[in-house]
Amino acid sequence: SKNALLSGKRIMITAGPTREAIDPVRYISNHSSGKMGYAIAKAAVELGAKVTLVSGPVNILPPENVEVESVVSAQQMYDAVMSDIGSHDIFIACAAVADYRVDNASNHKMKKNKDDGLTLSFIQNPDILKSVAALDTAPFTVGFAAETQDMIEYAKSKLIRKKLNMIAANDVSKPGLGFNSDKNALIVITPEKEYELAQASKDSLAVNLLRLVEREYQETQK
Ligand code: C5P
Repeated sequence: SKNALLSGKRIMITAGPTREAIDPVRYISNHSSGKMGYAIAKAAVELGAKVTLVSGPVNILPPENVEVESVVSAQQMYDAVMSDIGSHDIFIACAAVADYRVDNASNHKMKKNKDDGLTLSFIQNPDILKSVAALDTAPFTVGFAAETQDMIEYAKSKLIRKKLNMIAANDVSKPGLGFNSDKNALIVITPEKEYELAQASKDSLAVNLLRLVEREYQETQK
């Protein structure tokens, strides 16, 4: 409805892992399920936003009324985000993007050597979140920080280094939270404030995170 909290707002969300090819049948990836990003997409639609979801390969169905762009690699995710971000007001980077890709990926299926090991070399992928935040006409940018130690310190330094408006930190060393879980807990940090969103379902955290995003976004529009 017109009175919904995020009505008229265009939000782009990245979600899920990326896959980095070793050869045409093998890849390197991570344990991201995409649940947090998909929960945020669903909540954003329910709060009235127009949502673009740029998603790596996941095993969950996209929420209704979301425009989904499916990608595989970090480079593809970067290209999809950068070509479309201009028409969005808010960017939320939930994806667990691979920091590196295989430099010497093979065009053909690699064969096993009789007794030799295998050495792969890696080059860095572009930082999608940092690139969006650095745009002249950057949207309101929100990052995630999955940490196993010194969570708040690392998250704050990421907020500053990547020039973000907000970062949501979660402790992935806590059993039962984060990655594949349906539950999470977040510390939400802006350059001036710190909020705590206590342990809850990813669906309910998504709504509460978006309420904070909306509040802080309005502040930047003054
Ligand atoms: O520095 P770190 O990878 O921990 O930062 C995590 C945040 O940056 C997440 O919001 C993630 O989606 C985003 N990111 C990205 N592109 C990358 C690496 C991370 O958008 N290549």
